Amino acid sequence: HAHLLGIEPLAPENITAILDLAEEYVTLNRSDTKHGDALAGLTQINMFFEASTRTQASFELAGKRLGADVMNMAMQASSLKKGETLIDTALTLNAMHPDLLVVRHPQSGAVDLLAQKVRCAVLNAGDGRHEHPTQALLDALTIRRAKGRLHRLNIAICGDIAHSRVARSNILLLGRMESRVRLIGPPTLMPAGIEEFGVEVYDDMRAGLDGVDVVMMLRLQKERMDGGFIPSEREYYHRYGLDAEKLGYAKPDAIVMHPGPMNRGVEIDGEIADDINRSVIQDQVEMGVAVRMAAMDLLARNLRARRAG
Ligand code: CP
Repeated sequence: HAHLLGIEPLAPENITAILDLAEEYVTLNRSDTKHGDALAGLTQINMFFEASTRTQASFELAGKRLGADVMNMAMQASSLKKGETLIDTALTLNAMHPDLLVVRHPQSGAVDLLAQKVRCAVLNAGDGRHEHPTQALLDALTIRRAKGRLHRLNIAICGDIAHSRVARSNILLLGRMESRVRLIGPPTLMPAGIEEFGVEVYDDMRAGLDGVDVVMMLRLQKERMDGGFIPSEREYYHRYGLDAEKLGYAKPDAIVMHPGPMNRGVEIDGEIADDINRSVIQDQVEMGVAVRMAAMDLLARNLRARRAG
């Protein structure tokens, strides 16, 4: 593949190849050196049109650890004029000969559009409510390390499914790797027709969590609710927040995940988030650096091969 725009175009063997290479980078990142040369001589530009802590920091570290020249553009959604401005920006940067463009944008489809305008590899760091492929890949690596496999697991994704690119990318990836996905959340936050993706839908946490291996909590994305129904945080926590009582319905060795940023006391009890026997939230962050190193390494190999050919 020339770009990483989503999980949608990836075959199971593509996903496995990224995760296997990421394992090597987990080892490298835990060593004293931390550095490789897979991106030596290449220029990586990070363009975040929307706020980020984990994704931006890990893409920057990933590029630097692999020897790229990394530039972070300071971009705020508030100054963004849609359409022409995005394309003009892409063309301007393209003229500086970047090799890797990492892009986060509040509009679904904006990163795909940008990828059509530039002559380098583009990585989607999250576009609107569409896809967040490196998040799903780091989640998959975290699950595979904790459970030893990705197939035949029961995985619950809980909360604000409708506004979540993380949910969408995870549904695609986990389905492709033959895990069983359950979606749990209020009907108002469940996309219509989502069952077509081969998932089971629940609006009751206890029924949905019964016997699952993995509990993935999502943030209530109020910024994407643009005037629509916004549940009260108290009521939401009562019905859909993960606390010890509800987690008791999952398997005793079930792991708890959250992509971050977390709203403690809204979708998850802070004590569960911090429980090192159940929560793998910090592992997810660690895997994020390794997965982004692997994804950029593979795209760079593809880029070099195409340029040489
Ligand atoms: N999980 C995630 O994308 O976090 P950030 O928004 O902080 O990058």
